[in-house]
Amino acid sequence: MQQAPENERLEVLFSPETIAVRLEELAGEIAAQRLEPLLVVAVLKGSFVFAADLIRALNRTGMQPEVDFITLSSYRKSRVSSGTVDILRDVELDVAGRNVLLVDDVLDSGRTLAFAKDLMSARDARSIRTCVLLNKNTPRAVDIGADFFAFECPPIFVVGYGMDVGHRFRELPFVGRIVGE
Ligand code: IMP
Ligand code: MG
Repeated sequence: MQQAPENERLEVLFSPETIAVRLEELAGEIAAQRLEPLLVVAVLKGSFVFAADLIRALNRTGMQPEVDFITLSSYRKSRVSSGTVDILRDVELDVAGRNVLLVDDVLDSGRTLAFAKDLMSARDARSIRTCVLLNKNTPRAVDIGADFFAFECPPIFVVGYGMDVGHRFRELPFVGRIVGE
């Protein structure tokens, strides 16, 4: 176990090696769907590490996706979804007529991904697929599933590999849980 500040300890759930192996498989699953020309839209901030690794894994399959970013917020500083989703920063590219792959870190209540999907749909995307690192085993507030996911995740709060609590732990190379708080 890695020692974290303020006497918190982190238990590794998904190691860097486990993530790397699974991402190669996941990229293969996405490539098999023949979605090109593909526009990857990473939902910031939490997905930035996952998206960075995923697009390079997609490149190794021979894909050449375009990449854009949207910053959405439903969590603020709290660990519990607030129920509303805000656009903090919008995509730059026109998504009309595009095959869009929305990439997020966690599918939890589903509100964030459902919001992003509705937004892309309202802007006349040609097709919309969703891909998350973690498919959390929690009740969804809205009826949405991920088309692609790397791992099933228990209903606990996780950090690392881009994911934070109060802006901390994004830099960790693994996905972990905080224990002994
Ligand atoms: P949803 O809208 O409830 O599905 O939540 C999805 C968003 O909440 C994700 O994009 C994450 O940013 C955040 N989130 C959900 N669970 C966790 C977690 O365990 N750790 C860090 N962020 C989380
Ligand atoms: Mg997020």
